[in-house]
Amino acid sequence: MRTITLKQEMYLWAKQVKTAGHSIGFVPTMGFLHEGHLALVEEAKRDNDYVIMSIFVNPLQFGQGEDYTTYPRDEKRDKKLAEEAGVDILFMPSVDDMYKHKKSIKLMVTEKTDKLCGATRPGHFDGVVTVLTKLFHLTTPNRAYFGLKDVQQFAIVTALVEEFDFPVEIVPVDTVREPSGLAISSRNVKLTREDKQKAPALFNSLLLGKKLIIEGETDANVIIKTVRHYLDQQLGENVEVDYVEILTFPYLEDLSEVNGKVVIAVAVRFFTARLIDNIIVD
Ligand code: PAJ
Repeated sequence: MRTITLKQEMYLWAKQVKTAGHSIGFVPTMGFLHEGHLALVEEAKRDNDYVIMSIFVNPLQFGQGEDYTTYPRDEKRDKKLAEEAGVDILFMPSVDDMYKHKKSIKLMVTEKTDKLCGATRPGHFDGVVTVLTKLFHLTTPNRAYFGLKDVQQFAIVTALVEEFDFPVEIVPVDTVREPSGLAISSRNVKLTREDKQKAPALFNSLLLGKKLIIEGETDANVIIKTVRHYLDQQLGENVEVDYVEILTFPYLEDLSEVNGKVVIAVAVRFFTARLIDNIIVD
């Protein structure tokens, strides 16, 4: 595995590989790697000649008061895990190199941001599409891999490449979970022991919603209320449920009656970390 830190070097490597007729799979991450990230690498290795993983904690996608400075980082461990997973190029640019130009143009997501995480994280997805636009240009991938755990991110990135004609295929990857059902996340390490024990309630609440749909419930409000009630009961007073929503998948449109493919999504604010999870029900 080779580590590249300079944008220019990254671009030249990718250009050489593409000119030689090879394909590139790209896995963008913010590091502190876990099995979820490694599942994306596994898929990327299956489909492509070379795999680039980027590790870049992107300041643009963190709002004021969010956890940019305390976001978990462990470069040494990440390098080891990436190498063991078979990553060919680990791209770790610096903030200064990525954002060295004065900003005179702003990318802005105008739809799909009034719901789920967009509603409470203004500007977050603007930061995500900005960094991905740059990373796609620097790595020129044939395919890029995104986890369905961040289902709104997946929907917005799909819109980005469709609307702006990026020649890259966006490949969704299922959520990797701990045996308890808890979706694996870099932020799980921030949970207290007590909260970690409560956290599987997120996935269990989604399974409850899924069960209601399978049993024939079609009123989205009834499902939302039941899921929220379950979460409130399981999590107790010090944990705040940010949202429980049901939307169409993959377009994330509002619905009152459940029909076709839908996603049930939840976000929960523990004292030390905010966790999200979702389940797709057909
Ligand atoms: P990060 O949170 O590091 O996640 C990187 C990728 O891993 C995302 O596509 C995410 O959906 C996926 N992922 C995270 N947990 C997962 C799990 N348990 N199972 C499967 N996939 C999982 O998402 C970001 O970084 C950033 O917003 C980024 C796209 C890199 C732009 O800065």
